[in-house]
Amino acid sequence: MDSDNRQTGRAANLMDKLSALCKRRGFIFQSSEIYGGLNGFWDYGPAGAQLKQNIRNAWWREYVRNGHTGPENQKYDIVGLDAAIIMHPSIWKTSGHTESFSDPMVDCRKCKQRFRADQLPSAGCPVGGNHDFTEAREFNLMFRTSVGPVENDTSIAYLRPETAQAIFVQYQNVLTVSRTKIPFGIAQIGKAFRNEINPRNYTFRSREFEMMEIEFFIHPGTGEMWHKYWLDNRLKWYESIGLPREKLFIEWHASEDLAHYASACADVTFQFPFGVQELEGIANRGDFDLTQHARATGKIPPYFDPETKERFMPHVIEPSAGVDRIALALLTNAYHEETVSDGKGGEEIRYVMRFHPGIAPVTVAVFPLLRNRPELVARAEAIFEMLRSDYLVQWDDRGNIGKRYRYQDELGTPWCITVDFETLGQEDAKLKDTVTLRDRDTMIQERVRIEDLTAIIRDRLSAF
Ligand code: GAP
Repeated sequence: MDSDNRQTGRAANLMDKLSALCKRRGFIFQSSEIYGGLNGFWDYGPAGAQLKQNIRNAWWREYVRNGHTGPENQKYDIVGLDAAIIMHPSIWKTSGHTESFSDPMVDCRKCKQRFRADQLPSAGCPVGGNHDFTEAREFNLMFRTSVGPVENDTSIAYLRPETAQAIFVQYQNVLTVSRTKIPFGIAQIGKAFRNEINPRNYTFRSREFEMMEIEFFIHPGTGEMWHKYWLDNRLKWYESIGLPREKLFIEWHASEDLAHYASACADVTFQFPFGVQELEGIANRGDFDLTQHARATGKIPPYFDPETKERFMPHVIEPSAGVDRIALALLTNAYHEETVSDGKGGEEIRYVMRFHPGIAPVTVAVFPLLRNRPELVARAEAIFEMLRSDYLVQWDDRGNIGKRYRYQDELGTPWCITVDFETLGQEDAKLKDTVTLRDRDTMIQERVRIEDLTAIIRDRLSAF
């Protein structure tokens, strides 16, 4: 086996183990699983739904809620939008998607499978020998649907392949109501759909996924400066949610590879087990979209700058990230296997998801030592309720404590709290009103006072 194949084998093995853990602990399930699944679609279980919510919250908090601080500590407005998935079909004509949002596709004449012409399989044809490919032809990735009770040419509509176009077509309304001035941004989180020819690498390339996009409107001539600013800024954001800098890269697109709307584009890429792949595209869209929609509708006038008295069509920098890809990056980065003592003189494997505590789906788990002792359960419930308003807390009273730790390790819970007989002061009066606080990464258990718990967790969270 050459080293590339070994690498691919290891990556596949790791992705298999990760997807097994994701199913076992409720991060990700195959969509429609009991009907055999549907290729390119995924469901997120309780832990995965919370992980995604934490990603959205971190992004929205940073860019929308807190008012974004840009270069030289200036505050810039970034306001939210939540637009419909199905929009007027003319929008996709104007934006160029009906014409150009396609991938080259080939068919194998022998096995009848379809492939992206730029991602041909390295393995042979399952029917035998090599694949026998047709000429490449363009395949539009937009999902078509029909609006209203009659299906005909005029009822055709599309599920949006990006959230960005809704921002452009609502730009004028948002500008009017927001009383803001350029530079400013409009942010949106929402589902997008692409009928990908080969969905692959677990959730990495799906047919339904979620985007977090900002269209940042700027003065003409400032595009290069803002483009660089957003690249630096987004790298820092990825680090803030726990992706290590050494696994993050910036890759510029060659001019011949640019999307039809972009004058320059760079991707933030990440070292996934299956290779360095795109997390986010950051494009300089110039005034392409606003100009196109203005021409098509006559409803977007040039912007008037009250300070410089100039009129112009704003230019746009677009940081466009995929929530599912960020979740997958966090999952692959968090996954660790360790050999630890099993407490009986032997060894066992500990599977532990080392999420950044601020992004982990559960921050603290609370256990009563025994579920059939009401005095332990009542104290643990009081702690659970106390912490619940500030943190993501999970209750667990099943099985022995060691098993509960292992379960929480697989969920990536940074801290576990156990209420035992010492908490009740039955064994040592000095330990009354204390609990065990166990750390996921060091596995160290310490005795802390219940009244200090909220502050201890707050301090440890902010230290990350
Ligand atoms: N509005 C710009 C735009 O749509 P894009 O690079 O095509 O740009 C942006 O998509 C991001 O959306 C990607 O960087 C990726 O994170 C995510 N994305 C795109 N296609 C995806 C797919 N099939 N499955 C999961 N995520 C996808």
